[in-house]
Amino acid sequence: MKTPNTIYHNATVTREKHNQLNSHKSTVIWLTGLSGSGKSTLAHSVEEKLHKLGCQTFVLDGDNVRHGLSSNLSFSDNDRRENIRRIGEVASLMMEAGVIVMTAFISPFREDRNNVRKLLPQGDFIEIYCKSSLEVCESRDVKGLYKLARAGEIKNYTGIDSPYEEPNNPELVINTESESLEESVGKVIDLLKAKGIIE
Ligand code: ADX
Repeated sequence: MKTPNTIYHNATVTREKHNQLNSHKSTVIWLTGLSGSGKSTLAHSVEEKLHKLGCQTFVLDGDNVRHGLSSNLSFSDNDRRENIRRIGEVASLMMEAGVIVMTAFISPFREDRNNVRKLLPQGDFIEIYCKSSLEVCESRDVKGLYKLARAGEIKNYTGIDSPYEEPNNPELVINTESESLEESVGKVIDLLKAKGIIE
């Protein structure tokens, strides 16, 4: 539902002007994958690298966003959908502000990710699948939540009793089981160069 009686105001300092000032393009790098697949680690490492290169960056991180913007949402299918919709809208605004935005959310549903892809201008949704088997993610169990999910103490846990839909056509697949973090960061940076986002 669109809010009635509101009129969109176009900025005069446009995305292009922000990009010119920053000497790089803005975009949205959307990481998806199971909990424990290394999304946050990769996002923050890429951000460090880009920051050193003088880029304007921001990481929207699952756990952080659920403390604030999405603190009223659960892990039901519908609430995950709403979570991803919100993040998509926030990422879109930040991209307009000239920022290279990285998001690190499980974002388990293909349709929800594709809705964000459709929301953004063509080419601005760079989907990166952080691929790692459930066995490996579960054995890492950094937050101890897989154990609780197996014990039935947490319901609707992705990979246990809630599905994860792999991307059909991501811009990049990072195998976080076999690649080193340095290698993975290098691949993302190379992709950004190939797309002309950074030089
Ligand atoms: S998403 O499905 O809506 O994209 P999001 O990335 O925001 O999920 O949050 C995932 C994080 O929340 C996980 O890394 C984990 O720490 C925590 N979490 C708590 N409950 C669940 C659950 N039922 N399923 C998945 N993650 C959960």
